[in-house]
Amino acid sequence: SKPAIVIAIDGPAAAGKGTLSRQIADAYGFHHLDTGLTYRATAKALLDAGLPLDDEKVAGKMAREVELAGLDRDILSTHAIGEAASKIAVMPSVRRALVEAQRAFSLRQPGTVLDGRDIGTVVCPDAPVKLYVTASADVRARRRYDEIVGKGGEADYDGIFSDVKKRDERDIGRADSPLKPADDAHLLDTSEMSIEAAFRAAKTIIDAALKRQSK
Ligand code: CDP
Ligand code: CDP
Repeated sequence: SKPAIVIAIDGPAAAGKGTLSRQIADAYGFHHLDTGLTYRATAKALLDAGLPLDDEKVAGKMAREVELAGLDRDILSTHAIGEAASKIAVMPSVRRALVEAQRAFSLRQPGTVLDGRDIGTVVCPDAPVKLYVTASADVRARRRYDEIVGKGGEADYDGIFSDVKKRDERDIGRADSPLKPADDAHLLDTSEMSIEAAFRAAKTIIDAALKRQSK
């Protein structure tokens, strides 16, 4: 049978990867995996069990037990889980286990959309379509801020901005699978784009890439 089509979407925190990936998966009838949730689920399992976040052996074992079914962003969205996820995401044994599960997911027919930090570079380097979605740190912090306030919560813009910068530093600076665009990724800067405009731009890129591929 034909290999499943993989659309790889990478970029920094709050660039709009998740929003875009869900829309793309809907439009093409593909399965979607937010790989950040696999790191978050591992972190939550460690926190719930009262296990340390700095023991690579313990964290790697937990990562091997994570189930892709039932990953839920609502349950995994807390700040504490995000911080813990970012810490264990630097550990090679954690990454090895989660990348294996993500690769297995990427084989689902007729196609998949995976979003994260290292999909185009490490998880699915042969993906026929790669997007690197960015926006300025200021715009990304503003989006996070609006998201929290929109849900009726209280937010501190300066705190969110410094969190976004710290997350960027950790993602870009780690030795194993640092955040960076794959050589063959299409860059999509959404700083000045609405969600709708970003989707249209992405769709144009994807349609052209799939057409080239089917020739
Ligand atoms: O998945 P990632 O962390 O990259 O971002 P997201 O959760 O998809 O998007 C973060 C927030 O930015 C959401 O509240 C989106 O609705 C918003 N957003 C936006 O305002 N404009 C865009 N072009 C994309 C996302
Ligand atoms: O919390 P944030 O929206 O920045 O990120 P996320 O997409 O929910 O991912 C949680 C953590 O997992 C982040 O700290 C990422 O660095 C890490 N991650 C990763 O290392 N590789 C991926 N493919 C996806 C997420």
